[in-house]
Amino acid sequence: MTSNQNDPAASARGSQLASDFTVSLHYDRRLYREDIAGSIAHARMLARQEIMSAESVASIVEGLQSIESEIAAGDFPWRDDLEDIHMNIEARLFDLIGDAAGELHTARSRNDQVSTDTRLYSKGAALELVGAVRAAQEALLQQAEAHMQTVVPGYTHMQRGQPVSLAHHLLAYFEMLDRDAVRFSAAAAAADVSTLGSGAMAGVPYPVDRQSVADELGLDRITANSMDAVSDRDFALDLIYAASVCMLHLSRLSEELIIWSSNEFGFVKLGDGYTSGSSMMPQKRNPDFAELTRGKSGRVVGNLMAAMTTLKGLPLTYNRDLQEDKEGLFDSVDTMLAALGVVRGMIESATFNADKMRYAAESSYVLATDVADYLVGKGMPFREAHIIVSNLSEQAANSGKYLHELSLAEYQAASELFDEAVFDITVDSSIAARDVEGGTALNRVTEALAAAKARLVASRHDK
Ligand code: ARG
Repeated sequence: MTSNQNDPAASARGSQLASDFTVSLHYDRRLYREDIAGSIAHARMLARQEIMSAESVASIVEGLQSIESEIAAGDFPWRDDLEDIHMNIEARLFDLIGDAAGELHTARSRNDQVSTDTRLYSKGAALELVGAVRAAQEALLQQAEAHMQTVVPGYTHMQRGQPVSLAHHLLAYFEMLDRDAVRFSAAAAAADVSTLGSGAMAGVPYPVDRQSVADELGLDRITANSMDAVSDRDFALDLIYAASVCMLHLSRLSEELIIWSSNEFGFVKLGDGYTSGSSMMPQKRNPDFAELTRGKSGRVVGNLMAAMTTLKGLPLTYNRDLQEDKEGLFDSVDTMLAALGVVRGMIESATFNADKMRYAAESSYVLATDVADYLVGKGMPFREAHIIVSNLSEQAANSGKYLHELSLAEYQAASELFDEAVFDITVDSSIAARDVEGGTALNRVTEALAAAKARLVASRHDK
């Protein structure tokens, strides 16, 4: 092996490799707005505190504003030889305004800078995700409202269990997403804090006014400990965790849509925009969007594991490992936003087949619990009733019948407590009987729908 010292080409390759390895520009450039906002707020504070002259702050702010326009317009002269967004903006500021650019780094380090940038980004992203969750909930609400009286088998262990209304089933997902919105709001609150003034890690030796910088950035508060401030990425974990749980919910919903849209079930037809054909099999309507939502959930959960693993061994304070916080964070947010949009569209454009769902409920043993409850109504302990109806179900199944196809004589052979009224048990009576808070009876689901709507309306005023 040739050593780099003796081989200029290898040495050049080596230093190229080393700089590629350390750059973050290709992903942290998307923080340019946050970075410029942070710099402007910092510069204005320095001027207010008479740490910087009025002339310097004026030219810094003007320079930063034109940099923002250049980047937005795609005209910015990116320099790949500079490691990150912060250094690119700083270098460009020198080009534009000269030496005054150097004053911007008074009382600031890239450590507190990048941490505030990432918090600003996370807060904005988390709030945007709350909005996207609410929009998906709205779609669920609309379908629920349209299917208050649609009957579908509810499943346990993927076996038909008890009949429910489709509205009740869809509102279960509404609840999951409601908790997601709460988690995203909490992630926004966790990020809502300025670290500027923490410097590299020990604080800064200037009379800065930290809270005024936070105020200008629209951040709620300032960090309490400079060492924690530059090394803490809990807010990013909070956001990726919230996204992971929300992706799990969307993945479960997608799994049901995949199963329900199979020929075997035929409960739902997904909108044309959300299926694709097969290059070989002309009959196919593959649920690709649902499958990809399910598939992408794995990557978001992976991002959470990656971020936690990166953080777990870090001593105080800033360590370069922290630069690895962003790709998984950005990817989680991008994936989450896209998946919420897809799920919203899938729900909006789905056509549910009420006849097939009702048929699946009726051609099954989903009324067995109700038959047992009937015996309980006649005074039998539930456990005893359970055994009798379990035997009856088996007996019916062996003769190719459903429970409601048994004769009164067959019922009475199992228990004398049965009379004609057992034939009044239907999927509709079963649903109507679950008249309990949180149950599937029509009046309860009507209440639940109204409460869900009210929560959505209230959430609009929260902002
Ligand atoms: N690119 C770095 C990051 O994202 C910026 C902070 C660098 N700080 C330092 N002391 N090298 O973490």
